[in-house]
Amino acid sequence: MKPKVLVTREVFEDVLQCLSQYFEVTSNQSDVVMDPETLAAKLSGKQGAIITLSDRIDAALLARCPNLKAVCNIAVGYNNIDLAACTKAGVMATNTPGVLDDTTGDFTWTLILATARRLTEAEAYLRAGKWDGWKLKQFLGLDVHHATLGIFGLGRIGQVVARRAIGFEMRVIYHDVRQAVPEVEQACRASFATKEELLSQADIVTIHVPYSPATHHLIGKSELGRMKPTAILINASRGGVVDDAALIEALRSGTIAGAGLDVFENEPKLNPQFLELKNVVMAPHIASSSLATRHKMAMLAAENLVAALTTGKPPNLLNPV
Ligand code: DGY
Repeated sequence: MKPKVLVTREVFEDVLQCLSQYFEVTSNQSDVVMDPETLAAKLSGKQGAIITLSDRIDAALLARCPNLKAVCNIAVGYNNIDLAACTKAGVMATNTPGVLDDTTGDFTWTLILATARRLTEAEAYLRAGKWDGWKLKQFLGLDVHHATLGIFGLGRIGQVVARRAIGFEMRVIYHDVRQAVPEVEQACRASFATKEELLSQADIVTIHVPYSPATHHLIGKSELGRMKPTAILINASRGGVVDDAALIEALRSGTIAGAGLDVFENEPKLNPQFLELKNVVMAPHIASSSLATRHKMAMLAAENLVAALTTGKPPNLLNPV
């Protein structure tokens, strides 16, 4: 008999076909997000699951799913999974690193350029029929070329963002828990800065760190206060790394000039005050969402699940079990 697995959200047809070769698959192609109770009920009796950021895997859920052996996230970030609880329950957890770096880096640049040049604000003005002709001072923005780019987190995605900055002839500084090796700094043409130096010198601050208790509100009122009033903040990492209430206040008061955000605290219920601000460019957590990349992410999660339940050695194992 084939092991039973659950796919908690809609995936591509060929991913389901791949899984069906090995497993009896229950899938949720209607894509309705499951509340914890429904998720526990659907997972009961399953040995594995393909999950997403909308599925919280914690001790309470695991206690109700004694047959579970593996949960495979379709995401590189895994703050939806309590790894310690998984390890304790003997459940393998995996993520999808590597396949989304370029696409997420590209989208970071989408946010940088759109925010610096006030694109959504200008387009809304045009769509509202308010444009009555060229004006010298219309939607004056921030030059990206030759500006200083400050990157929090020079991991895989941070490095992609830094390398793209070479084309804009920018000065790139970064801050991380550890200084990168010289080869990486050279390839990125990036130099290490303290958090304070980065905040006070960068024209564009972009965040590429995972969410954890250590990075919760990495950017809050005091950090925003250290930034230049002309600077912009970009976040395509995780909600919670930025204190949204403090950011709203900083955008409203002119402490900083603008923000480009793909992620928010309490997604998808973003703070409604963001909607009242003109100097913020927003997207619904789509930085990795190109067709090719989302397909690769789902396929990699499926490969992890197949390996986990057949060999016990998934390529992207996150926890020792
Ligand atoms: C990730 O991979 O962590 C992304 O945020 C999912 O879109």
